[in-house]
Amino acid sequence: MIDLSVKIGNMILNNPIMPASGTFGYGEEYKDFFDLNTLGAVVTKGLSIDPKAGNLPPRIYEGERFLINSIGLENIGIERFISEKLPFLKNIKCPTIVNFFGNSEEQYYKIAEKLNFIDEIDGVEVNVSCPNVKKGGIEFGLDEKLLFNITKNLRSIIEKKALIVKLSPISSDIISLSKACQEGGADGLTMSNTLKGLSVDSDKMLFNIGNKIGGISGPLLKPLNLRIIYEVRKFTDIPIIGVGGISNLKDALDYFAVGADAVQVGTANFSTPDIMHQIICQLKDYLQIKKINNIRELRIHD
Ligand SMILES: Cc1cc2nc3c(=O)[nH]c(=O)nc-3n(C[C@H](O)[C@H](O)[C@H](O)COP(=O)(O)O)c2cc1C
Repeated sequence: MIDLSVKIGNMILNNPIMPASGTFGYGEEYKDFFDLNTLGAVVTKGLSIDPKAGNLPPRIYEGERFLINSIGLENIGIERFISEKLPFLKNIKCPTIVNFFGNSEEQYYKIAEKLNFIDEIDGVEVNVSCPNVKKGGIEFGLDEKLLFNITKNLRSIIEKKALIVKLSPISSDIISLSKACQEGGADGLTMSNTLKGLSVDSDKMLFNIGNKIGGISGPLLKPLNLRIIYEVRKFTDIPIIGVGGISNLKDALDYFAVGADAVQVGTANFSTPDIMHQIICQLKDYLQIKKINNIRELRIHD
């Protein structure tokens, strides 16, 4: 029997493949493309305490090996999510992971308090790549002490659900930041969020994105995130969810090889909406052919 399951805190995923936040809506948007019950988990678009309108268009630019987006974390806010989107997710068999963010520590805790009482939510993924408006706009996730405090306080609020912290790829000291999350009580880490970038049309003398600067996603991120996970894996034993540029089975296997326990697929969902379903089927076949019973055996030991 092939065991594809992954345990993150109290949450058990039947397989290690799930969507990356913000590229899969609230789940329902993809229901006609494949059976969502086959996913390892559904991960929602990032939620804030109040609805957010997002940034000026154009919001997405497609380059050759990357996408730049400046959606601006547009979302319907936690209350509307609970009343309008959760009823659909309740009927999906795989775990639901809610991604959220705040612009102050208090906002993170307020959302966590609301989510903690919803039985149908199995895990939370905390996006800490947001500016702390009270501290001059420095990202929460780049300040080791603050990251430890936020994680510790969220841990005391989120009692039974899996607590996953999603880190930014830009820190030069990702190991200390990961340790801060683990010591604060995180059950898992997602690595990583988008990387800031810019794209111009020098011929037309225009910026390609309304906000000028946006987040790079897609294949360009893969070597960066493989390196980050490889380095962090040596110092952390909590589950790592790898994300960045995964668009086929080989990409996912590369992430497992360097130490990821599960993976998320983001940008690739836009061009191939059933890509995760394909990867799950191919992963099962691959393990069968290779006579490997457990995905942990896919890791390189060096
Ligand atoms: C259009 C778009 C919206 C995103 N929205 C969010 C979000 O709301 N919260 C979050 O934590 N990450 C968000 N991300 C980042 C992705 O979850 C993921 O970390 C990143 O895109 C790298 O994965 P990929 O290369 O497979 O796309 C977004 C990415 C894209 C492209």
